[in-house]
This record gives sequence, structure tokens and C-alpha cells, in this order.
Amino acid sequence: MNCTTQAIRIPAEPEGAYEVRIGSGLLAQALDAVAERFPGHRPFLVTDANVERSGHAAALIGESNTEGFVIDPPGEQSKTMRTVESIIAEMETKKFGRDTVIIALGGGTVGDMAGFAAAIFKRGVPCVQIPTTTVAQADSAIGGKTGVDSDLSKNAFGAFHHPAMVIVDCSTLKTLDDRHFRAGLVESIKHAMILDADYFDTIESNLDAILARDEDILCKLAQKNTAIKGRVVYEDPREKNLRRILNFGHTLGHAVETESDYSLLHGEAVAIGIMAACRIAEALDACSDEVGARACALFERLGLPLALPAEATLNALMDTMTRDKKAVGGLPRFILLDALGSVYAPADTFGVEVPPDILESVITRFDKIQD
Ligand SMILES: NC(=O)c1ccc[n+]([C@@H]2O[C@H](COP(=O)([O-])OP(=O)(O)OC[C@H]3O[C@@H](n4cnc5c(N)ncnc54)[C@H](O)[C@@H]3O)[C@@H](O)[C@H]2O)c1
Ligand SMILES: [Zn+2]
Repeated sequence: MNCTTQAIRIPAEPEGAYEVRIGSGLLAQALDAVAERFPGHRPFLVTDANVERSGHAAALIGESNTEGFVIDPPGEQSKTMRTVESIIAEMETKKFGRDTVIIALGGGTVGDMAGFAAAIFKRGVPCVQIPTTTVAQADSAIGGKTGVDSDLSKNAFGAFHHPAMVIVDCSTLKTLDDRHFRAGLVESIKHAMILDADYFDTIESNLDAILARDEDILCKLAQKNTAIKGRVVYEDPREKNLRRILNFGHTLGHAVETESDYSLLHGEAVAIGIMAACRIAEALDACSDEVGARACALFERLGLPLALPAEATLNALMDTMTRDKKAVGGLPRFILLDALGSVYAPADTFGVEVPPDILESVITRFDKIQD
């Protein structure tokens, strides 16, 4: 089923507003859309080997002789300065200049790398994001955070560089493997939980159609995600306060992801973090237990593990959380809810310091993943 193409404008400073075009089967027209937005620019396509194998790069390039770079191997292991240097070297070899427009076709790793290359090549060229995963369509393609990992930590190098345009083609999700597809939906659930209870109802009542990758419902999700993330990022582009609410589920989530040595996908770890945030809010009497119960039921229907890997011990998690760059004064801060669609904000600040005894009792309640 095809959904009608929608365009949402995201306001952004200082580069100005950018358009997020959402629909299905948009790849074939993407080069024309880029040429219309950037007349006289040379497009340079960055994608990865899986996305190329899935036929999406060919659908985008069509009969044109668009040049580009294929990241291989795909995924986090390539999200390094070395890959960004290779992308830039390829553009230099092919004599690309300041009139380049980089097109990022792929998941969050491609978007982060291509966006970062665009931020630094010739002191900055435009980047069009064409996200192809549930994570990238809900989250990473919008907001302007770009970067790569160092040997020691994730996203050690980076820059804010808003996309010049985002094209969300929901039909690209058809070829994504089931585990990535399901884990990436956690970012949509996160958006619903922090800001939009009706959106949560929509996900709950349409989950079967979502899992069947019905394009109509996937387009609806993309529209909601874009509106929510776009609004938050516009109001707080440099993550001073409001943008922190997007970190819901991520304080413990990041620690679980790290301690699992990335055997858990980001969304799988964030689902655990969201459950922990719900239980902390219950323990603090900030929120009713119905919210956690509904989230848990949804995550179970998604088949997410909701259990900690053996190596994610209480001590290791506490240690990682207190070293997290978002911890203030060594105490981890949690985004909590006071109701579905509403963030708990005592004294108008988001991010609550949680007493260690409550945190420990919440963490020890999780089951361990059995080998
Ligand atoms: N910049 C931000 O604001 C932001 C936000 C969230 C996450 N991120 C980053 O995003 C990355 C995770 O993103 P991701 O989950 O999309 O990872 P990913 O880019 O590694 O994609 C997951 C896997 O799916 C493959 N793939 C992508 N699209 C496909 C398709 N349509 N069909 C078949 N295979 C496809 C990829 O090759 C890869 O193997 C992390 O590096 C994270 O740090 C950034
Ligand atoms: Zn996330």
C-alpha cells in the first residue's frame, strides 16, 4: 500500500529550515529532488554494502552516473575517522569541490559518517539524509548530530551539522532484518512515551500492521517521529535542557549497551532503560505503575529480551553510568515520566538524580539473559 507523500518543515538555526519528505517509493525521485533543492551541485552518494545489496542504491542512482562511496564492512565497526578520511579522499580524487552535496543513504552509521564528512569537507557542504532503518528514520537523520567513534569511545569525534533535506522512504524498511527493525521501533515508543500519549495508543493498536511493515502505518510513524524530534531539537538545538528528554531510557540503556559489549542492539538496551525509568518513577511515587505495565507489554510483543546480559553486573552498570558524560557531579540523571506522554520535571528541570538504593533495587529486579 502506498501512502501519500508528506512534507514537514523543521526549523533550524543557523542554517535555516529543512524539509523532511515522507512517503514510500521516493528513492527514484530523490536525485531530482536534490537537484531541485541544490541546482548546479554535484551529488556524492555515501551508502554501505548491505544497503547497496538490498537494491536501494541502484533504485536511487537509476540511469545516472552518480559517484559515491560504499562503506564496507557496514555497521558500527566502520564508524571511524579512517572511513571518513576515505570518503573525503574519494571526493578529492574525483575533484569534488564546494559545490558538492553529499547524499547519505543508509542507517544511523552511514548518516553519522556521511553527515560528519559533510560537516568538515571544505569547511562544510550540504548533506541530504535518506534514512533506511527504524533507528535512522525515527531518530538519527533528524537533529544534526554527526560523528564517528574513536578506538576508546562512541561518538568521540563529532559536529552539529543539520541536514539540508531529509527524504524518508518507508518502503526501504522492507529489506531491513527483523532484529534491527524491531529494536529500532523503541525510539518511536520513546517519543510517544515522553510527549504524545495518543501516539502511544496508535503504536499499541497498530503493532501487528507495523510488524508486517505496512507502508501506510510506517509513514504515519515517520510523520509523528519527525514532528516530535523536530520540535524538541528546534527548541533546544545544543542540548541545554529540553533536548535531554530524548535521553529517556538512555541513562541505563547506554550502560547496558556498553557492558553487553554491544551484543545487545541500542534499542534493545534502551527498552531495558525505559523499563528501569518507569520503575524508578514508581518507586519515587512520581508515576503510576500502569505506564510501566503498558510499555512492558509492548516491548514483549516486540520480542525484546528485557533481560540483562551476565556481564552487566550491578557494579559495572553503576560504574559506567557515573562515568557517562551526562552525569552531573558523578551522579547519573534519569529522565522520568509523571504520566504517559508527560516528562516529570520538578523545579522545571529534566533529569532527576536517583538515590543509589532505589537504582540498585530496580537494576537487581531484571532477569539475566540465559545462554
Ligand atoms: N546522530 C544521531 O542523533 C543518532 C541518533 C541515534 C543513533 N545514532 C547512531 O546510529 C547508529 C545506529 O543506527 P542503525 O541502527 O541504523 O545502524 P546501522 O547503520 O549499522 O544499520 C543497521 C544494519 O542494517 C543494515 N541496513 C541499513 N538499512 C538497511 C535496509 N534498508 N535494508 C537492509 N539492511 C539495511 C546496515 O548495513 C547495518 O548492517 C549508531 O552508530 C548510533 O550512534 C545517531
Ligand atoms: Zn537512542
